[in-house]
Amino acid sequence: MAARGWTEDDIADLSGKTFIVTGANSGIGFEAARALAEKGAAVVLACRSVEKGEAAADRIKMAHAGTKPEVRELDVASLASVRAFAERFLREHARLDALVNNAGVMAIPRRETVDGFEMQMGTNHLGHFALTGLLLPRLIESAPSRVVSVSSMMHTRGRFGALDARDLRLESGYEKWLAYGRSKLANLLFAYELQRRLGVAHPTVLSVGCHPGYAATNLQSVGPEMSGSAVGRAVMAASNALFAQSARAGALPTLYAAVAGGVRGGEFIGPGGPFKMWGAPVSQKSNRASYDLEAAKKLWEASEELTGARYAL
Ligand SMILES: NC(=O)c1ccc[n+]([C@@H]2O[C@H](COP(=O)([O-])OP(=O)(O)OC[C@H]3O[C@@H](n4cnc5c(N)ncnc54)[C@H](OP(=O)(O)O)[C@@H]3O)[C@@H](O)[C@H]2O)c1
Repeated sequence: MAARGWTEDDIADLSGKTFIVTGANSGIGFEAARALAEKGAAVVLACRSVEKGEAAADRIKMAHAGTKPEVRELDVASLASVRAFAERFLREHARLDALVNNAGVMAIPRRETVDGFEMQMGTNHLGHFALTGLLLPRLIESAPSRVVSVSSMMHTRGRFGALDARDLRLESGYEKWLAYGRSKLANLLFAYELQRRLGVAHPTVLSVGCHPGYAATNLQSVGPEMSGSAVGRAVMAASNALFAQSARAGALPTLYAAVAGGVRGGEFIGPGGPFKMWGAPVSQKSNRASYDLEAAKKLWEASEELTGARYAL
Protein backbone atom coordinates (compact mmCIF):
# COMPACT_ATOMS: atom_id res chain seq x y z
CA MET A 1 0.00 0.00 0.00
CA ALA A 2 1.56 3.29 -1.07
CA ALA A 3 1.97 5.93 1.59
CA ARG A 4 2.44 8.93 -0.67
CA GLY A 5 2.32 12.17 1.25
CA TRP A 6 2.10 10.56 4.69
CA THR A 7 3.07 13.06 7.41
CA GLU A 8 3.02 13.36 11.19
CA ASP A 9 -0.51 14.74 10.83
CA ASP A 10 -1.62 11.25 9.79
CA ILE A 11 -0.61 9.75 13.14
CA ALA A 12 -3.71 8.88 15.18
CA ASP A 13 -4.08 9.61 18.87
CA LEU A 14 -1.61 7.38 20.74
CA SER A 15 -2.96 7.86 24.27
CA GLY A 16 -2.51 4.71 26.36
CA LYS A 17 0.29 3.38 24.16
CA THR A 18 3.93 2.95 25.18
CA PHE A 19 7.00 3.23 22.95
CA ILE A 20 10.73 2.81 23.46
CA VAL A 21 13.07 4.73 21.15
CA THR A 22 16.78 3.92 21.48
CA GLY A 23 19.18 6.79 20.83
CA ALA A 24 16.34 9.27 21.31
CA ASN A 25 18.44 12.24 22.41
CA SER A 26 19.34 13.38 18.89
CA GLY A 27 18.57 13.20 15.20
CA ILE A 28 15.95 10.78 13.94
CA GLY A 29 15.40 9.13 17.32
CA PHE A 30 14.68 12.49 18.91
CA GLU A 31 12.24 13.53 16.18
CA ALA A 32 10.46 10.17 16.34
CA ALA A 33 10.18 10.33 20.14
CA ARG A 34 8.92 13.91 19.97
CA ALA A 35 6.23 13.09 17.41
CA LEU A 36 5.04 10.03 19.35
CA ALA A 37 4.90 12.00 22.62
CA GLU A 38 3.00 14.83 20.93
CA LYS A 39 0.36 12.31 19.87
CA GLY A 40 -0.18 11.30 23.51
CA ALA A 41 2.05 8.20 23.79
CA ALA A 42 4.17 7.35 26.81
CA VAL A 43 7.67 7.42 25.33
CA VAL A 44 10.80 6.03 26.94
CA LEU A 45 13.90 7.81 25.66
CA ALA A 46 16.55 5.10 25.93
CA CYS A 47 19.86 6.99 25.93
CA ARG A 48 23.43 6.21 26.88
CA SER A 49 23.80 9.69 28.37
CA VAL A 50 21.03 10.42 30.86
CA GLU A 51 22.07 14.07 30.82
CA LYS A 52 21.60 14.33 27.05
CA GLY A 53 18.37 12.35 27.37
CA GLU A 54 16.99 14.75 29.98
CA ALA A 55 17.90 17.74 27.78
CA ALA A 56 16.01 16.10 24.90
CA ALA A 57 13.02 15.35 27.16
CA ASP A 58 12.99 19.00 28.28
CA ARG A 59 12.90 20.13 24.62
CA ILE A 60 9.92 17.87 23.98
CA LYS A 61 8.08 19.04 27.11
CA MET A 62 8.73 22.70 26.33
CA ALA A 63 7.54 22.35 22.75
CA HIS A 64 4.43 20.42 23.69
CA ALA A 65 2.83 20.91 27.10
CA GLY A 66 1.34 17.80 28.66
CA THR A 67 3.89 15.36 27.22
CA LYS A 68 5.80 13.25 29.76
CA PRO A 69 8.77 11.64 28.03
CA GLU A 70 10.73 9.38 30.38
CA VAL A 71 14.49 9.03 30.21
CA ARG A 72 16.16 5.71 31.01
CA GLU A 73 19.82 4.81 30.68
CA LEU A 74 20.67 2.41 27.87
CA ASP A 75 24.06 1.81 26.30
CA VAL A 76 23.36 -0.66 23.52
CA ALA A 77 27.10 -1.26 23.26
CA SER A 78 27.02 -2.98 26.67
CA LEU A 79 25.09 -6.20 27.28
CA ALA A 80 25.01 -5.44 31.02
CA SER A 81 23.36 -2.09 30.28
CA VAL A 82 20.89 -3.73 27.88
CA ARG A 83 19.89 -6.24 30.58
CA ALA A 84 19.57 -3.56 33.27
CA PHE A 85 17.44 -1.37 30.99
CA ALA A 86 15.14 -4.25 30.02
CA GLU A 87 14.71 -5.41 33.63
CA ARG A 88 13.77 -1.91 34.74
CA PHE A 89 11.41 -1.37 31.82
CA LEU A 90 9.63 -4.66 32.48
CA ARG A 91 9.25 -3.73 36.16
CA GLU A 92 7.92 -0.27 35.38
CA HIS A 93 5.73 -0.81 32.30
CA ALA A 94 2.88 -3.24 31.82
CA ARG A 95 2.79 -2.74 28.04
CA LEU A 96 5.00 -2.05 25.05
CA ASP A 97 3.36 -1.11 21.77
CA ALA A 98 6.53 -0.58 19.76
CA LEU A 99 10.26 -0.90 20.24
CA VAL A 100 12.15 1.42 17.90
CA ASN A 101 15.71 0.16 17.48
CA ASN A 102 17.27 3.39 16.24
CA ALA A 103 20.56 4.07 18.10
CA GLY A 104 23.56 3.88 15.84
CA VAL A 105 27.09 4.89 14.93
CA MET A 106 28.47 5.23 11.40
CA ALA A 107 31.90 4.79 9.83
CA ILE A 108 33.93 5.21 13.00
CA PRO A 109 37.54 4.08 13.48
CA ARG A 110 37.78 0.49 14.77
CA ARG A 111 36.70 0.28 18.38
CA GLU A 112 35.33 -2.51 20.54
CA THR A 113 32.36 -2.59 22.89
CA VAL A 114 32.89 -3.57 26.54
CA ASP A 115 31.87 -7.09 25.50
CA GLY A 116 34.61 -7.18 22.85
CA PHE A 117 32.41 -6.76 19.76
CA GLU A 118 33.39 -4.59 16.81
CA MET A 119 31.65 -1.33 17.74
CA GLN A 120 29.40 -0.76 14.72
CA MET A 121 28.09 -4.33 14.74
CA GLY A 122 27.89 -4.27 18.56
CA THR A 123 25.92 -1.02 18.69
CA ASN A 124 23.81 -1.15 15.57
CA HIS A 125 22.90 -4.85 15.60
CA LEU A 126 24.03 -7.01 18.55
CA GLY A 127 22.82 -4.70 21.34
CA HIS A 128 19.44 -4.34 19.68
CA PHE A 129 19.25 -8.09 19.05
CA ALA A 130 19.69 -8.71 22.79
CA LEU A 131 17.30 -5.92 23.74
CA THR A 132 14.53 -7.15 21.45
CA GLY A 133 14.83 -10.70 22.80
CA LEU A 134 14.43 -9.48 26.38
CA LEU A 135 11.43 -7.27 25.58
CA LEU A 136 9.66 -9.63 23.18
CA PRO A 137 7.44 -11.26 25.84
CA ARG A 138 6.03 -7.80 26.69
CA LEU A 139 5.52 -6.99 22.99
CA ILE A 140 3.66 -10.29 22.56
CA GLU A 141 1.46 -9.58 25.62
CA SER A 142 0.72 -6.08 24.25
CA ALA A 143 -0.10 -7.15 20.67
CA PRO A 144 -0.84 -5.58 18.27
CA SER A 145 2.72 -4.33 18.60
CA ARG A 146 5.80 -3.70 16.48
CA VAL A 147 9.58 -3.90 16.40
CA VAL A 148 11.11 -1.29 14.10
CA SER A 149 14.71 -1.73 12.93
CA VAL A 150 16.27 1.45 11.56
CA SER A 151 18.61 0.44 8.76
CA SER A 152 20.15 2.43 5.90
CA MET A 153 20.52 2.29 2.12
CA MET A 154 24.16 1.60 3.03
CA HIS A 155 22.99 -1.96 3.74
CA THR A 156 23.85 -2.49 0.06
CA ARG A 157 27.54 -2.07 1.01
CA GLY A 158 27.35 -4.92 3.52
CA ARG A 159 29.29 -8.13 2.85
CA PHE A 160 29.75 -11.11 5.14
CA GLY A 161 32.17 -14.00 5.11
CA ALA A 162 31.23 -17.17 6.98
CA LEU A 163 28.64 -15.20 8.94
CA ASP A 164 29.57 -16.89 12.19
CA ALA A 165 30.50 -15.34 15.54
CA ARG A 166 34.10 -14.85 14.39
CA ASP A 167 33.01 -13.08 11.21
CA LEU A 168 30.77 -10.71 13.21
CA ARG A 169 33.75 -9.75 15.38
CA LEU A 170 35.57 -8.48 12.25
CA GLU A 171 38.97 -8.91 13.86
CA SER A 172 40.97 -8.25 10.69
CA GLY A 173 40.49 -6.28 7.48
CA TYR A 174 38.51 -3.49 9.13
CA GLU A 175 37.14 -0.87 6.76
CA LYS A 176 34.81 1.62 8.41
CA TRP A 177 32.19 1.86 5.63
CA LEU A 178 32.13 -1.87 5.05
CA ALA A 179 31.66 -2.36 8.81
CA TYR A 180 28.76 0.12 8.78
CA GLY A 181 27.21 -1.55 5.72
CA ARG A 182 27.44 -4.96 7.39
CA SER A 183 25.74 -3.70 10.54
CA LYS A 184 22.92 -2.15 8.49
CA LEU A 185 22.52 -5.32 6.41
CA ALA A 186 22.37 -7.19 9.73
CA ASN A 187 19.51 -4.89 10.82
CA LEU A 188 17.45 -6.05 7.82
CA LEU A 189 18.41 -9.74 7.98
CA PHE A 190 17.34 -9.59 11.63
CA ALA A 191 14.10 -7.67 10.97
CA TYR A 192 12.92 -10.11 8.29
CA GLU A 193 14.02 -13.22 10.23
CA LEU A 194 12.20 -11.96 13.33
CA GLN A 195 9.08 -11.54 11.22
CA ARG A 196 9.39 -15.10 9.89
CA ARG A 197 9.86 -16.46 13.42
CA LEU A 198 6.87 -14.50 14.76
CA GLY A 199 5.00 -16.00 11.82
CA VAL A 200 1.55 -17.39 12.35
CA ALA A 201 1.97 -17.82 16.13
CA HIS A 202 1.99 -14.05 16.68
CA PRO A 203 0.33 -12.52 13.63
CA THR A 204 -0.18 -9.10 15.21
CA VAL A 205 3.41 -8.60 16.38
CA LEU A 206 5.09 -7.03 13.37
CA SER A 207 8.78 -6.65 12.63
CA VAL A 208 9.40 -3.83 10.17
CA GLY A 209 12.60 -2.44 8.66
CA CYS A 210 13.04 1.17 7.62
CA HIS A 211 15.60 3.75 6.57
CA PRO A 212 15.55 7.56 6.70
CA GLY A 213 17.17 8.30 3.33
CA TYR A 214 19.66 11.06 3.95
CA ALA A 215 19.00 13.33 6.94
CA ALA A 216 21.29 15.90 8.54
CA THR A 217 22.04 14.63 12.07
CA ASN A 218 25.02 14.06 14.34
CA LEU A 219 25.61 10.71 12.65
CA GLN A 220 27.81 12.15 9.93
CA SER A 221 30.14 14.02 12.32
CA VAL A 222 30.90 11.32 14.90
CA GLY A 223 33.30 9.33 12.68
CA PRO A 224 35.39 12.33 11.54
CA GLU A 225 35.47 13.62 15.14
CA MET A 226 36.71 10.29 16.50
CA SER A 227 39.45 10.12 13.90
CA GLY A 228 40.32 13.82 14.35
CA SER A 229 39.70 14.60 10.69
CA ALA A 230 38.90 18.30 10.18
CA VAL A 231 38.59 17.68 6.43
CA GLY A 232 36.15 14.82 7.01
CA ARG A 233 34.07 17.03 9.29
CA ALA A 234 34.00 19.85 6.73
CA VAL A 235 33.04 17.51 3.88
CA MET A 236 30.22 15.98 5.91
CA ALA A 237 28.95 19.40 7.01
CA ALA A 238 28.94 20.68 3.42
CA SER A 239 27.23 17.54 2.15
CA ASN A 240 24.57 17.79 4.87
CA ALA A 241 23.91 21.44 4.04
CA LEU A 242 23.61 20.71 0.30
CA PHE A 243 21.89 17.34 0.08
CA ALA A 244 20.28 16.24 3.32
CA GLN A 245 16.69 16.55 4.40
CA SER A 246 15.90 17.56 7.98
CA ALA A 247 16.03 15.07 10.85
CA ARG A 248 12.29 15.64 11.23
CA ALA A 249 11.65 14.53 7.64
CA GLY A 250 14.13 11.67 8.08
CA ALA A 251 12.09 10.37 11.03
CA LEU A 252 8.94 9.88 8.93
CA PRO A 253 9.78 6.35 7.67
CA THR A 254 10.51 5.31 11.27
CA LEU A 255 7.22 6.78 12.45
CA TYR A 256 5.34 5.22 9.55
CA ALA A 257 6.86 1.81 10.35
CA ALA A 258 5.95 2.22 14.02
CA VAL A 259 2.36 3.45 13.81
CA ALA A 260 0.84 3.74 10.32
CA GLY A 261 -2.16 1.59 9.45
CA GLY A 262 -1.76 -1.07 6.76
CA VAL A 263 1.91 -1.81 7.49
CA ARG A 264 2.77 -5.50 7.08
CA GLY A 265 5.48 -7.41 8.90
CA GLY A 266 8.68 -7.75 6.87
CA GLU A 267 8.14 -4.49 4.98
CA PHE A 268 10.96 -2.02 4.38
CA ILE A 269 9.86 1.60 4.64
CA GLY A 270 11.86 4.50 3.24
CA PRO A 271 11.53 7.87 1.51
CA GLY A 272 9.84 7.60 -1.87
CA GLY A 273 11.56 10.58 -3.52
CA PRO A 274 14.65 10.80 -5.77
CA PHE A 275 17.30 8.14 -5.09
CA LYS A 276 15.21 7.00 -2.07
CA MET A 277 17.00 9.78 -0.15
CA TRP A 278 14.18 12.27 0.40
CA GLY A 279 10.42 12.40 0.45
CA ALA A 280 7.41 10.82 2.06
CA PRO A 281 7.60 7.21 3.31
CA VAL A 282 6.66 4.30 1.05
CA SER A 283 7.15 0.55 1.14
CA GLN A 284 10.29 -0.44 -0.79
CA LYS A 285 12.48 -3.45 -1.49
CA SER A 286 15.89 -3.77 0.13
CA ASN A 287 18.70 -5.57 -1.70
CA ARG A 288 18.73 -9.27 -2.51
CA ALA A 289 21.25 -10.15 0.19
CA SER A 290 18.90 -8.85 2.89
CA TYR A 291 16.28 -11.47 1.95
CA ASP A 292 18.76 -14.39 2.03
CA LEU A 293 17.16 -17.00 4.31
CA GLU A 294 20.36 -18.92 4.99
CA ALA A 295 22.29 -15.74 5.86
CA ALA A 296 19.49 -14.64 8.20
CA LYS A 297 19.56 -17.98 10.01
CA LYS A 298 23.34 -17.86 10.40
CA LEU A 299 23.26 -14.27 11.64
CA TRP A 300 20.58 -15.20 14.18
CA GLU A 301 22.64 -18.12 15.51
CA ALA A 302 25.86 -16.09 15.67
CA SER A 303 24.00 -13.25 17.42
CA GLU A 304 22.59 -15.67 20.00
CA GLU A 305 26.04 -17.12 20.58
CA LEU A 306 27.67 -13.72 21.06
CA THR A 307 24.97 -12.06 23.17
CA GLY A 308 23.58 -15.06 25.04
CA ALA A 309 20.08 -13.85 24.07
CA ARG A 310 17.47 -16.57 23.73
CA TYR A 311 14.22 -15.74 22.03
CA ALA A 312 10.90 -17.16 23.18
CA LEU A 313 10.08 -18.11 19.58
N1 LIG B 1 21.01 10.45 9.22
C1 LIG B 1 21.00 9.69 8.13
O1 LIG B 1 21.09 10.18 6.99
C2 LIG B 1 20.85 8.21 8.26
C3 LIG B 1 20.86 7.44 7.09
C4 LIG B 1 20.68 6.08 7.18
C5 LIG B 1 20.48 5.49 8.41
N2 LIG B 1 20.50 6.24 9.54
C6 LIG B 1 20.28 5.54 10.82
O2 LIG B 1 19.45 6.30 11.65
C7 LIG B 1 19.71 5.97 13.02
C8 LIG B 1 19.76 7.25 13.84
O3 LIG B 1 20.87 8.02 13.45
P1 LIG B 1 20.84 9.60 13.33
O4 LIG B 1 21.07 9.93 11.92
O5 LIG B 1 19.67 10.16 14.02
O6 LIG B 1 22.20 9.96 14.10
P2 LIG B 1 22.49 10.68 15.50
O7 LIG B 1 21.88 12.02 15.55
O8 LIG B 1 23.95 10.56 15.69
O9 LIG B 1 21.74 9.74 16.53
C9 LIG B 1 22.25 8.51 16.93
C10 LIG B 1 21.77 8.23 18.31
O10 LIG B 1 22.28 6.93 18.72
C11 LIG B 1 22.86 7.10 19.99
N3 LIG B 1 23.85 6.08 20.28
C12 LIG B 1 25.03 5.84 19.66
N4 LIG B 1 25.67 4.84 20.28
C13 LIG B 1 24.86 4.43 21.30
C14 LIG B 1 24.97 3.46 22.30
N5 LIG B 1 26.05 2.67 22.42
N6 LIG B 1 23.95 3.29 23.17
C15 LIG B 1 22.86 4.09 23.09
N7 LIG B 1 22.72 5.06 22.19
C16 LIG B 1 23.71 5.22 21.30
C17 LIG B 1 23.43 8.48 20.00
O11 LIG B 1 23.71 8.89 21.32
P3 LIG B 1 24.82 10.01 21.66
O12 LIG B 1 24.20 11.33 21.36
O13 LIG B 1 25.11 9.79 23.10
O14 LIG B 1 25.99 9.73 20.76
C18 LIG B 1 22.29 9.24 19.36
O15 LIG B 1 21.27 9.47 20.29
C19 LIG B 1 20.99 5.17 13.02
O16 LIG B 1 20.67 3.80 13.20
C20 LIG B 1 21.57 5.38 11.63
O17 LIG B 1 22.33 4.28 11.17
C21 LIG B 1 20.68 7.58 9.50
